[in-house]
Amino acid sequence: MVKIIMNGCNGKMGQVISRLASSDDECAIAAGFDITGEVKNDYPVFRSPSEYSGEADVVIDFSHPDSLEGLLSYCRQRKLPAVIATTGLSNMQKNMLEAASEEIPIFFSANMSLGINLLIDLAKKATRLLDGSFDIEIVEMHHNQKIDAPSGTALAIADAIRDERSGGTEYIYDRHTARKKRKKEEIGIHSVRGGTIVGEHSVIFAGTDEVIKLEHSAASKEVFAVGALRAAKFIAGKKPGFYSMNDLIESL
Ligand SMILES: NC(=O)c1ccc[n+]([C@@H]2O[C@H](COP(=O)([O-])OP(=O)(O)OC[C@H]3O[C@@H](n4cnc5c(N)ncnc54)[C@H](O)[C@@H]3O)[C@@H](O)[C@H]2O)c1
Repeated sequence: MVKIIMNGCNGKMGQVISRLASSDDECAIAAGFDITGEVKNDYPVFRSPSEYSGEADVVIDFSHPDSLEGLLSYCRQRKLPAVIATTGLSNMQKNMLEAASEEIPIFFSANMSLGINLLIDLAKKATRLLDGSFDIEIVEMHHNQKIDAPSGTALAIADAIRDERSGGTEYIYDRHTARKKRKKEEIGIHSVRGGTIVGEHSVIFAGTDEVIKLEHSAASKEVFAVGALRAAKFIAGKKPGFYSMNDLIESL
């Protein structure tokens, strides 16, 4: 039985994970951390990690970038593996994850859905075949409560495409700031916010007289919660290191 600490337990994702974990025989939430301190489930909730020293095998984080530094130092101190799913991390915070992974297992993915990770794989393959003759643009859509833009997933898709290209790459966010033609090396990244859209990502490969679109649509937040729980079970007990969805998919 894998004992989980849920950071951001009172948020939308924290609550979906709490519901799924309560009917999962292989794991249980031992404690929650949340700045609200409110108790919504059958486990204790602490405002700060330093208040909890009880049982735990792994931490799952769906909270806010502000909590990352304190959470990582807690995990390092207790030698606890961490699944980090919070998006909108700065480059400095991503470096903190890399540094922590020298001491503890860190699983990081801007998108915990297995389907999105398959889409990233397909986008890499398409880039290898089409790069140079097709323009690549990414469009993402999310609900009106999301605070970061573009989505961490859109950036992860763009980074994966960039790494497959032989030439340089420039990210262009929306297109209202300059009146000029598109350059070949650009990847346009566009964000739409509205209503209750859970998460949609399209990668558009536009060539001469033909367009190829790869699309993923999440119908509920459960797809991320299922992936995060799988990730938690996967890294509990692993050696220190930096783990991703690729490692998890390869282990299946
Ligand atoms: N990687 C993925 O697959 C994936 C999927 C969905 C959401 N997310 C990301 O997860 C994060 C949370 O999403 P959500 O929809 O649950 O948001 P939310 O706003 O509903 O919940 C965030 C929770 O974190 C708590 N919180 C805020 N600051 C905190 C702090 N400093 N310490 C502890 N708790 C704190 C809030 O009180 C709240 O309960 C966001 O960054 C979101 O983009 C990632």
